[in-house]
Amino acid sequence: MDLKTRYMGLQLENPLVASASPLTRELDSLKRLEDAGAAAVVLPSLFQEEIEAETARHEHLTSAHDDSWPEGLSNFPKLANAQHGPHEYLELVRRAREAVGVPVIASLNGINDEGWTSYARQLQQAGAHGLELNIYFIPADLAETGRDVEQRYLDILRAVRTTVSIPVAVKLSPYFSSVGNMAMTLHDAGADALVLFNRFYQPDLDLARLQVLTDLKLSEPNEIRLPLLWLAVLAGRTRASLAASTGVTSAEEVVKYLLVGADVVMTTSSLLRQGPEHMATLLAGLKAWLQAREFTSLEHVRGIMSQRSLRDPQTFERANYLKILQGYRQPDPVSGRRPVAV
Ligand SMILES: Cc1cc2nc3c(=O)[nH]c(=O)nc-3n(C[C@H](O)[C@H](O)[C@H](O)COP(=O)(O)O)c2cc1C
Repeated sequence: MDLKTRYMGLQLENPLVASASPLTRELDSLKRLEDAGAAAVVLPSLFQEEIEAETARHEHLTSAHDDSWPEGLSNFPKLANAQHGPHEYLELVRRAREAVGVPVIASLNGINDEGWTSYARQLQQAGAHGLELNIYFIPADLAETGRDVEQRYLDILRAVRTTVSIPVAVKLSPYFSSVGNMAMTLHDAGADALVLFNRFYQPDLDLARLQVLTDLKLSEPNEIRLPLLWLAVLAGRTRASLAASTGVTSAEEVVKYLLVGADVVMTTSSLLRQGPEHMATLLAGLKAWLQAREFTSLEHVRGIMSQRSLRDPQTFERANYLKILQGYRQPDPVSGRRPVAV
């Protein structure tokens, strides 16, 4: 069974990639992921705030006349003394490279193109095979327009692109007015790959304590639907590699993402729930699905259900939306079955 795939210029043995998470911070779990079949790993992000806190601390220590604690540090008290500063991160990249044979993708996480982006070069020098940019930005400033937000992404990408020669991926937000056009624009600006999508963590309220809940919920399989739509629309229409990310729980989601045209499929939640060895279950499930249908290569199935390949491309568009709404039937209160739409 030939499961080989190319992602952001890297040749991978199969399409399964462990996305950024605490599991990819530890050498032990990185090795377990590789043993279980992960074809590449994305390290957890190095955050802009961590780099800025380190820079501020350095400036403070080297300034002979200034006894005050730098403002940048007091804004990020935890990060300032974290064990996860830029130096530790570079060390993680080096040690991950030594520990595993699969490609190691470093991740930078920030919201503007100020000095921190030059750090990308150090990640390349430390041995990263590729770089993923996570621009986790919530435009809560109501004066910031959609175009401003798009420009922010492009500025960061271009700033990073000028400092490195390794491939760069952008972990994309699903909240652009025109996701497809933004994807194409990012590719034109130098993104070798697009990760669909970044998962924005949304708050809830605790009604008993009247507090904002910021707990982190792992993803569920029904969350694949939004990335599935956009992968289906983009597949075969951009030269950027496409990574599916969010909602993978079993091989079923992996197969669906590949059918609509993903080059690789990423997972975090399933690995956090089940442990790194779950990667082997996903891989076995993918192989079993292909074998049962007598496919001998991933290439035979990738994208066969993308918008370009479907006989009725409208399936992914408005016409189908109307059909779905009009075809909805209330389930029978006794049997729970839905009458068949005619
Ligand atoms: C505990 C935890 C830590 C994460 N850390 C990062 C990170 O450092 N950088 C990043 O880009 N994404 C991070 N993510 C997001 C994941 O990489 C992934 O995009 C997200 O969980 C959706 O994929 P999933 O549905 O497979 O979990 C983290 C997710 C979790 C649950």
